[in-house]
Amino acid sequence: MSFTRRQILGGLTGLVAIGLGAGGASRYWLGRSDPDAGHDYELIAAPLDVELVSGYKTEAWAFGPSAPGTELRVRQGEWLRVRFINHLPVETTIHWHGIRLPLEMDGVPYVSQLPVKPGEYFDYKFRVPDAGSYWYHPHVSSSEELGRGLVGPLIVEEREPTGFLHERTLSLKTWHVDEQGAFMPFSVPREAARNGTAGRLITINGQAGSVTELPAGQVVRVRLLNLDNTWTYRINLRGNCEAKIYALDGNPITPRPLQKDYWLGPGMRICLAIRIPEAGEEISLRDGFVRLGTLRSVASTQAPGDWPPALPANPIAEPDLANAEKLNFNFEWVGKVSVNTENGKPPSLWQINGQAWDITDKTCADRPIATLRKGKSYIFELKNMTQYQHPIHLHGMSFKVLSSNRHKFQEQYFTDTYLLGKNESAQVALVADNPGTWMFHCHVIDHMETGLMAAIEVV
Ligand code: C2O
Ligand code: CU
Ligand code: CU
Repeated sequence: MSFTRRQILGGLTGLVAIGLGAGGASRYWLGRSDPDAGHDYELIAAPLDVELVSGYKTEAWAFGPSAPGTELRVRQGEWLRVRFINHLPVETTIHWHGIRLPLEMDGVPYVSQLPVKPGEYFDYKFRVPDAGSYWYHPHVSSSEELGRGLVGPLIVEEREPTGFLHERTLSLKTWHVDEQGAFMPFSVPREAARNGTAGRLITINGQAGSVTELPAGQVVRVRLLNLDNTWTYRINLRGNCEAKIYALDGNPITPRPLQKDYWLGPGMRICLAIRIPEAGEEISLRDGFVRLGTLRSVASTQAPGDWPPALPANPIAEPDLANAEKLNFNFEWVGKVSVNTENGKPPSLWQINGQAWDITDKTCADRPIATLRKGKSYIFELKNMTQYQHPIHLHGMSFKVLSSNRHKFQEQYFTDTYLLGKNESAQVALVADNPGTWMFHCHVIDHMETGLMAAIEVV
């Protein structure tokens, strides 16, 4: 495949207001601009100092004026056109996690496009077929780029009103910073060989100890997005409230109560409806026993709301299970932590079907581990042969979760990321309806960067 490099910034700078002053948040702007200008958003990635630890500055990288980055919104079925401008000191791309789009817009370096170098821009433009909660992030030097804050929510609104009058997006990220807000290593081999290198400072929308005010008596749609590199949050709510799950990752399910812990792996999302208690009451949003943040009820003059109906299904092709071909994918640990990393290569710790991805080798995608025929249905047998869990993610297509030897599903559901538990085997199915070479990987970023990635081609 050959690529042409998109325009270098030069003649563009007149379009963008860029100050070089200190003081962070106002240095760069992002917003809906004149649609005639050819794009809906101008998204600038640049260094941004943020205050995660009070009194200290963290030298983050951000999409727009905050980290996590600006929430992009688009209506289902419409085009999203983003002019992405790179003002970072490093090259990067944007991948649109969970969106079914053409390969050229998928943001994978050397597969979809060349990396966008400092000072260059790239126009992303694609139609968004499915409503739901998605997100965006680079697919280059991911431990560091995501770790420094290059993550952001992408919300695709349903075409018709859903009955929710209020909604909030809560982006979860646990930062790799010390007590002074300085970055710590994003990936340490001995941790990459286990659960993944964990951050230390829990934040919601970039705030530690966050408090979100919500209107009393209303049923509020709360989108929880796990934009963290490695951490699986065990989501539960404590307080006087009722909560139902309306969607898993991008796709609706029949609403059901949020029971004790919902395990939200890296890259995954959950859409809750929460009935907010009386004004003054607080709900604690927790990861197991750990408080992630507080939801505080504030007085509302609106009449108490009712539970909206289930969200409308997305137009994803239904796999033909009777005629589907079965493919096995085995996820294995091959850890030799003492490997020599002096050659600049990360250690090779994980494999899919006996093959480890090497992020320093640009040709890995030329050797897909599976070739699917366009239009055919497939059942993937995902087998985790390790003692660690892996949120398994596929680009370009959504798959239906059918069954598992570890869980009883109340219903089968479509998703883009499935949290495969230790030693779990799960069956998922899809129609191979999107031609291209698609990344298939664990979303624990340091697993992905130490082998747990592969390419699946659809021809
Ligand atoms: Cu969030 Cu390769 O994906
Ligand atoms: Cu993705
Ligand atoms: Cu993993």
